[in-house]
Amino acid sequence: MSSLQQVNPRVRGMRTSPHAALQSLAARITQEITQGAQRSFKEVIDLTSGDPQRAGMKSISFVRQVLAACLCPHLLKDTSLPLDVRLRAQSLLDSCDGGSVGAYTPSAGLARVRQSIAEFLTRRDAGAPSYSRDVYISAGSQVALMLLVKLLASGEGETPTGVLTPVPSPHTLPGLLDEEGVTLVPYRLTEERGWALELSELHRALKASRGHCNPRAIYVSNPGIPTGHVQDRKSIEEVIRFALTNPSLSLSLQVYQDSVFGSEFVSYKRVLFQMDKVYSESVELVSFHSLSSGRMGEGGLRAGFMEAVNMDPEVTRYVHVMLCFDISAPVTGQLALDLMVDPPKPGDASYDTYTQEILSARATLSHNAQRAWQILNGLPGMSCQPAMGGVYLYPSVRLPAGILEQAEMLGVEPDVLYCQRFLQEEGVLVGAGLHHGGDTHHLRLCVLVPPDSLEEALTRLSSFHLRLVDRFSQCEGQRRARNSQREDLSVS
Ligand SMILES: Cc1ncc(COP(=O)(O)O)c(C=O)c1O
Repeated sequence: MSSLQQVNPRVRGMRTSPHAALQSLAARITQEITQGAQRSFKEVIDLTSGDPQRAGMKSISFVRQVLAACLCPHLLKDTSLPLDVRLRAQSLLDSCDGGSVGAYTPSAGLARVRQSIAEFLTRRDAGAPSYSRDVYISAGSQVALMLLVKLLASGEGETPTGVLTPVPSPHTLPGLLDEEGVTLVPYRLTEERGWALELSELHRALKASRGHCNPRAIYVSNPGIPTGHVQDRKSIEEVIRFALTNPSLSLSLQVYQDSVFGSEFVSYKRVLFQMDKVYSESVELVSFHSLSSGRMGEGGLRAGFMEAVNMDPEVTRYVHVMLCFDISAPVTGQLALDLMVDPPKPGDASYDTYTQEILSARATLSHNAQRAWQILNGLPGMSCQPAMGGVYLYPSVRLPAGILEQAEMLGVEPDVLYCQRFLQEEGVLVGAGLHHGGDTHHLRLCVLVPPDSLEEALTRLSSFHLRLVDRFSQCEGQRRARNSQREDLSVS
């Protein structure tokens, strides 16, 4: 056993997740193709990665140009760069210690960027005040979320902390809670209503958790990952009212707030501040946003932020202490956050290009979500709710009895077996969903890829799915015929 495993007994208990196993199978197939193996496809298409750049999305020119000038200040004099790019780069450098992106920043982030974020939030939330002291920059929203979960887990008493968590949820969330020893208290989203959140389900989940854990927070993802559901004002108000009398803290992941195409995004903070004082002055709310999934799609630069409102001052002190352990988010990421929350304005030299790039990315996403929804709903046994935002679709699939039996024999989940076969036969990687009980399973598809790749992947999916259904219905037919023959013989 390695010394690291001895240090952390949790590592010993860790198993490779189905998601990781599918990814390594995809990598193996890709390698085999590179080495000349003959397959019916030339490349593996990955429909699981929520990473926009990996999926082929182009970076936003304004962001890269400003960062280039910040990293190589001689470009500040290069007139081939637009004037607003050079001015912004200079003013960002002025806010860094030593005028350099190479200097550490305060642990909660550069004061200038926190201020820009607070101004953006105030604009976004129709004047609900936001203060830079409540904004914490971290190396991605996952890091900020982990920090909050760590804080919750370190509460007093023997009873473990619980977090009310949607089912389905982002596939990384259960592992994150488990890692911190927090109990996941599941509340089911309602598929028939486009994966809406039902208040009665929150009450049911809370009641069911009694005696097992101390539920101290409710987690929501809006727009929903991986459902694509966007909550309306009424639904958000219900969660806030629930949070006043129940688990006091609301954790609201809003990383896809810029990718809403079938609805209007309303933030939790905005709704909270438009409610009665009894709520707006007491419900603790932490909202997360990210550079990775927002309009920038720059996950590799590692930056995100959270805004905490109505937080106990003692807790905010701890947040600062814990952020200090993390040193600070990468400076280039922090600067890119400034560009995300304060983009070029009409009249600026970069405005037209910036607007065109943003609109084009959003149009592609919306087109892809619509197209995938259409194809998925045309396949036998599949049903997909329309996505209103985000980058995922989450279709349900009723699998043939034969594949369920095979999965049981092999000791794998049926949807994982479906994904494995699909990957091996057609070279498309899709994610297996969480099993919600019953005989229906789900797939997780990210629609960030370029439209022609998506079209190709959907063609391969249709052909695989129809073949599978056909193959197993033939087996089913043969089995029924054998059974009825046996019955006839035993009667005669
Ligand atoms: C599925 C998924 N993708 C991407 C993100 C963004 O993560 P980060 O901001 O750390 O890059 C999240 C955040 O929770 C997520 O759940």
